[in-house]
Amino acid sequence: MTRPRRRRPAPARRGPGFATRAVHAGEGSTHGDVRPVATPLYQTVSFSFPSAAEASAIAAGESAAPWYSRIGNPTVAALERAIADLEGAESAFAAASGMGAVATLLLANLRAGDHVVADSGVYGGTYNLLRRELPRFGVETTFIETNDPARLREAWRPNTRLLYVDSPGNPTLRVLDLPALAELARARGAWFVVDNTFCTPYLQRPLELGAHAVVHSATKYLSGHGDAIAGLVAGECALVEPGRIAGLREFGAVCAPFVAWLVERGLHTLPLRMERHCASALRVAEWLESRPEVAWVRYPWLPSHPQRALARRQMRGGSGVLVFELKGGISAGAALLDAVELCTHAVSLGDTRTLIMHPASTMHAPTPPEERLALGVTDGLVRLSVGLEDVEDIIGDLEQALGKARAAGG
Ligand SMILES: Cc1ncc(COP(=O)(O)O)c(C=O)c1O
Repeated sequence: MTRPRRRRPAPARRGPGFATRAVHAGEGSTHGDVRPVATPLYQTVSFSFPSAAEASAIAAGESAAPWYSRIGNPTVAALERAIADLEGAESAFAAASGMGAVATLLLANLRAGDHVVADSGVYGGTYNLLRRELPRFGVETTFIETNDPARLREAWRPNTRLLYVDSPGNPTLRVLDLPALAELARARGAWFVVDNTFCTPYLQRPLELGAHAVVHSATKYLSGHGDAIAGLVAGECALVEPGRIAGLREFGAVCAPFVAWLVERGLHTLPLRMERHCASALRVAEWLESRPEVAWVRYPWLPSHPQRALARRQMRGGSGVLVFELKGGISAGAALLDAVELCTHAVSLGDTRTLIMHPASTMHAPTPPEERLALGVTDGLVRLSVGLEDVEDIIGDLEQALGKARAAGG
């Protein structure tokens, strides 16, 4: 007698995985009978109207056919489809830069009399936009550490319309409790927007944690090769569509087709690159913690990170950026940057190359020390965006540079 075979439960049906979608989500452009495999580059300003009737239908908004590239371009649309898919968003729009995306989103959705609560760790450009530019249009912002519930309650006003955060923050790498912030904003009827540049949707999906929209500097990990400046917004239609329609038509910070093409191509390798960035950054962070020249290292995946448990709940990896404090202060930082050979002394992050910077002796040199310290830019702070080189070579370069900096008295 044959034993009855135990039936295995059918595997749960699921959609394609992240890596599959990263490769295929932008597909779908056709041109007549031509069926390109890679996303075609529509490097054109306008698209001819097939007939007067079609032109009227387009002008009346009854046809979605492209006609002018500031208003719509198939290469840019492929990128928008791809990021909407990867973030799990209803809609997305591409912009000329990360700041173009932030400004377009805020200008299209806020009006005079609105109030914003923003985390004090937001990117410097976003800080300046909220702090210096939007008040001219009647929009005020209160900056606080949003992980502190008492300060958050105190900062909230009846006219608070939007809560804006970057997580992890820059340069503190402070991780914020996104589900708790989403719950608070939703309970009080405000929009919740998260800058997801440092993580990308591969490591963190704020919309699944309750945010209404995410913003990206696609200049960083999404394009990933240090050769394209672009921005993206993805989220609920109610917030994203005003950005696309009024924002891009009237404010005009559109993404150029060739740049969109580069970013969409970058997305295909995003999971592979992020895995490598995360693994190498953790190795470098652990190695730096063992160095006598280094006072402390901040990286979300290190046991020493103050929000490590939170980071592990809402992120899939620590990403590629870490910061460390040199015991020798400003002179040690400057000496280290003069001594690196493989690491490139440059701003930005998320590149294939390892990028290193010492804000106190460079960009923040003119900033008064108290103001600089309030931003978290301490004397010996070094930011490292760990690239895709062999990690032994990155560590070897830092080792020789730390040695030279020490010998120079830094
Ligand atoms: C977290 C974050 N958001 C936004 C931006 C602005 O992006 P972009 O330089 O593409 O305008 C940057 C730039 O460094 C950034 O680091």
